[in-house]
Amino acid sequence: MIKTENITKNFGGGRGILGLDLEIEQNTIFGFVGPNGSGKTTTIKILCGLIIADEGRAWIDGMEVKGSNHIKIKKTIGYLPDEFGVYQQMSVWEYLDFFGAAYKIAPKPRKKRIEEVLEVTDASHMMDYQVSSLSRGMHQKIGIAKTMLHDPKILILDEPANGLDPHARIDMRNTILRLKDMGKTIMLSSHILPELGAICDTVGIIEKGKLLIQGTVQDITRSLQQNIVLELNLDSDPEEAKAALDEFENIQKIEITGKHELRIDYLGKRNEIADITSHLVNKSVRVISIRESEIDLENVFLTVTGKSGSENRGTAAKPVEAE
Ligand SMILES: Nc1ncnc2c1ncn2[C@@H]1O[C@H](COP(=O)(O)OP(=O)(O)OP(=O)(O)O)[C@@H](O)[C@H]1O
Ligand SMILES: [Mg+2]
Repeated sequence: MIKTENITKNFGGGRGILGLDLEIEQNTIFGFVGPNGSGKTTTIKILCGLIIADEGRAWIDGMEVKGSNHIKIKKTIGYLPDEFGVYQQMSVWEYLDFFGAAYKIAPKPRKKRIEEVLEVTDASHMMDYQVSSLSRGMHQKIGIAKTMLHDPKILILDEPANGLDPHARIDMRNTILRLKDMGKTIMLSSHILPELGAICDTVGIIEKGKLLIQGTVQDITRSLQQNIVLELNLDSDPEEAKAALDEFENIQKIEITGKHELRIDYLGKRNEIADITSHLVNKSVRVISIRESEIDLENVFLTVTGKSGSENRGTAAKPVEAE
């Protein structure tokens, strides 16, 4: 649905983006993550046709991003900029009506459309609010409602959760998931991976204009994980389990983490985890559950962008080549 090949924009002094290859499938959520100034907004603006790349090509729904396709592409995309102005003196309804008219939606269907976009963004109760009275969270919802007016297939949201409190972030996540359920393809950027990474099907991490890694959250976390971290819940003394596992091959470290809990750093293969369970059962240790713990998204981000120490549990400190 969105594809770029080697897009490059040089603002001088090493600023800009360099040779970006992105691929976003239809009806998925793609999280575009990177520190401040890494090139997220630049990439998004190139995709939306607002700035022209120095090199490389990009496609939106099969249409190449270039002058002759701009109008068709604009109809396909709903773009929420990182900062957008709102007309303070209008009510929410008047604001959406104004943009609906700008999209040339006739008055009757426009009314219905405004009701629909307010419902999707869970903002129907705000329709009579004065725009100047909106909180940051409300403001972002109305921004998304506006980008939905012309019913685009693709939504490109630049830092939609920026400045939102934890409740408003959860609300935003739910809105984005609803948009996916409606069949939309969503690209969103964030400088905080865990914030929205949890709802993303795929993630791309960018730093200093270069894409460091791209893939599903699970593939990325696994590729960064050298050892497997297992969390065991027992119906017996964890000391007994620890003793039973002391001689077990490929176990790097055993930690008692609770009254009935153990954490194991395992260097063996994933399919051999079953051997640990049967070994414990043979030693009469009562195992309630064994769960593989994945490194969290925060650590993935820090690891890939090279800011983590090697002490991060279960992570490799080296970045992985982009696919
Ligand atoms: N119009 C411009 N002229 C010159 N340099 C620019 C321009 N736009 C962006 N840059 C530079 O390009 C780099 C990438 O900027 P960009 O806005 O794309 O980053 P970002 O990842 O969106 O950052 P943030 O998280 O702060 O929004 C930065 O170094 C920025 O200063
Ligand atoms: Mg930005």
